[in-house]
Amino acid sequence: MTATRARTATTAPTANAPRTADAPGPAERGPAPAPAGEVSRGGPRPLRAGLIGLGAMGRNHARILASLDGVEFVGAVDPAGDPHGSLHARTGVPVLRDVADLLALGVDYAVVACPTALHEEIGLRLAAHDVCALIEKPLAHSARAARRLVAAFEERGLVAGVGHVERFNPALQQLRSRLEAGELGEVFQVVTRRQGPFPHRIADVGVVKDLATHDIDLTSWITGQAYASLSARTVSKSGRPHEDMVAVVGTLTDGTMVSHLVNWLSPLKERFTAVTGERGCFVADTLTADLTFHANGAQATEWEALRAFRGVAEGDTVRYAFPKREPLLVEHERFRDAVRAGGAPDGDGGIVTAREGLRTVEVSAAVLDAARTTAGARPAPDPAAPVTVPATVLPTGSAPAPAHRAGADTGPAAATATGTGVAEATA
Ligand SMILES: NC(=O)c1ccc[n+]([C@@H]2O[C@H](COP(=O)([O-])OP(=O)(O)OC[C@H]3O[C@@H](n4cnc5c(N)ncnc54)[C@H](O)[C@@H]3O)[C@@H](O)[C@H]2O)c1
Repeated sequence: MTATRARTATTAPTANAPRTADAPGPAERGPAPAPAGEVSRGGPRPLRAGLIGLGAMGRNHARILASLDGVEFVGAVDPAGDPHGSLHARTGVPVLRDVADLLALGVDYAVVACPTALHEEIGLRLAAHDVCALIEKPLAHSARAARRLVAAFEERGLVAGVGHVERFNPALQQLRSRLEAGELGEVFQVVTRRQGPFPHRIADVGVVKDLATHDIDLTSWITGQAYASLSARTVSKSGRPHEDMVAVVGTLTDGTMVSHLVNWLSPLKERFTAVTGERGCFVADTLTADLTFHANGAQATEWEALRAFRGVAEGDTVRYAFPKREPLLVEHERFRDAVRAGGAPDGDGGIVTAREGLRTVEVSAAVLDAARTTAGARPAPDPAAPVTVPATVLPTGSAPAPAHRAGADTGPAAATATGTGVAEATA
């Protein structure tokens, strides 16, 4: 079990809980539900859950909360009302205007699906009221904000999870199990591509925090490795203040190479993860939840032309059959169970903890820093192009050396031709 222990029983803070400016006053506390694990004659009482944000993602959460076993969906909050319509008409669940209205109803946990820029403020408010939270990804808009959230929930022993829903995609769950079982041998590289059209509603963060956090989280999770180093390039073509396209290249702590291509600028929608290793390549498509294995071939071919064209290593291709449950439903079931148990089991049965969500936000901040600061290496000039040797590097009294040799390769002479000095060229 993780260190977190949920105090799900009450909406009032305990005596030793730190009081914050946002700590509840008596009017905001609302009724205290009976302890979540308390068994009545009919079994444990259902957990009381609320939803904050009823937008594109929130309505999916609403659909699941409305029918989740062991959970009573007590209310949803959105200052814009019910933008996609009829939650109350379909389910009888009240649509409230403010988080205080939800807290007044008494909840064990809340799902936070409002814009990312508000996750910190709303999450801190829930923690101050001893309410556990499943916060949509990314955990927060900045690493500082994410750290404050982790501290608030951990100090109070509350369960806090992050909605990195890709972890519950059956294709990635299969992939992770197969990597753990050593089916690929040594892992060389993880490549992800996440492309699609522009989501007009997302305005508060760029594509790195909004989408690439999925790739960062899943890459760490399937490999069990942290990011060791990275570089990145971003562009912004949509006229918004934030980037809408990113390319990341990095390494994990065990040396595995990673790359992520993520954007909001493509009419092609793809959610692609390929892991290449000693024995072949796994490809997971999280749109269709398919996992395919392309094995290295054991058969040598005598057909020379084919060998040159396809390589000698192409073997069998297998697309696996496995049960496909809806990832968002599994995410909710895991979170409900963690709240009920007062903590999340480690490993596959668990949730994405707020601390893991923080790490992902930190990596996404490093991606943006790298994109701002990395100068990058310049490619060596075309060896056939004329080269001007900078006068400042010439040894006194010597004539310019013939820095260019026709047909020179990119060995030491070519490196010298980029201006590293005649002394090297003539050495
Ligand atoms: N896990 C995923 O795959 C996934 C997919 C999409 C979005 N998200 C995340 O979900 C969050 C919401 O994204 P979305 O696409 O639903 O955005 P959205 O703009 O469609 O919806 C946001 C909703 O929040 C409401 N809102 C604004 N202020 C609020 C407040 N103070 N209290 C309560 N509600 C408030 C808005 O009125 C709106 O209805 C974002 O953090 C986003 O990153 C996650």
